Amino acid sequence: MDDIFTVRHHETIGSTNNEARRLASEGAPHGTVIHADEQTAGRGRLTRHWFSPPGNLYLSVLLRTGTPPKRAGELSFLAAVGVAETVEALLPRKIRPMLKWPNDVLVNGAKIAGILLETQDDATILGIGLNVLEAPANASYKTTTIVANGGIASVDSARDILLASLGRHLAVWRADGFAPIRALWLDRSYPIAAAIRVNAHGESIQGAFAGLDQDGALLLDTPAGRQRVVAGDVTVDQPPV
Ligand code: BTN
Repeated sequence: MDDIFTVRHHETIGSTNNEARRLASEGAPHGTVIHADEQTAGRGRLTRHWFSPPGNLYLSVLLRTGTPPKRAGELSFLAAVGVAETVEALLPRKIRPMLKWPNDVLVNGAKIAGILLETQDDATILGIGLNVLEAPANASYKTTTIVANGGIASVDSARDILLASLGRHLAVWRADGFAPIRALWLDRSYPIAAAIRVNAHGESIQGAFAGLDQDGALLLDTPAGRQRVVAGDVTVDQPPV
């Protein structure tokens, strides 16, 4: 197991990702984790704000994997699998979290966690926000929390379960590459052929989910043929039964 994490805890911070980037540029080692009780300038994907009051988990993991930069994106799928396992461990037995490309974690169709992968020099920063107690009321998508789904968790227990899971998956990724992580991700995603819609660059493409390419790009079957999507937001037209 890759149990190399050293946690630096802050009561309040602007953004754990910003702090991790700052530390990365100062040479902080692989496995440095920035954990904050609240963020005053939490950031989401696509320059969105990330709701960050006390009561949720906000952390950033600094990784120096030594792999080519183009493989960094694989780590966001690894993180999504780790977060899904953490959520599953904290919720009542029958609830199975679902993954939505590229790396949202959903419970009953509502977002419970988000992942923001960034790079700084040769380091990769995995920023993870997990709603334990609080969810934004005014988001443009459905949101939820661990507690709203009958889970009982402290933020610190969520952090410890998450870091253990990330450590296990990092060890697998180092030994066997992206394929086993991709398989775990697909096992928690929508079924092949599910009707989905991808919104990217102001354009909306509808098609049938055809899996993940070897590099994590979304594969979409459309009337114009199979398309590879590397960035965008997915909506599921017919939620899986
Ligand atoms: C998303 O848009 O879904 C990604 C959200 C990522 C939020 C986390 S919270 C910890 C870390 N610090 C940040 O500023 N953002 C990430």
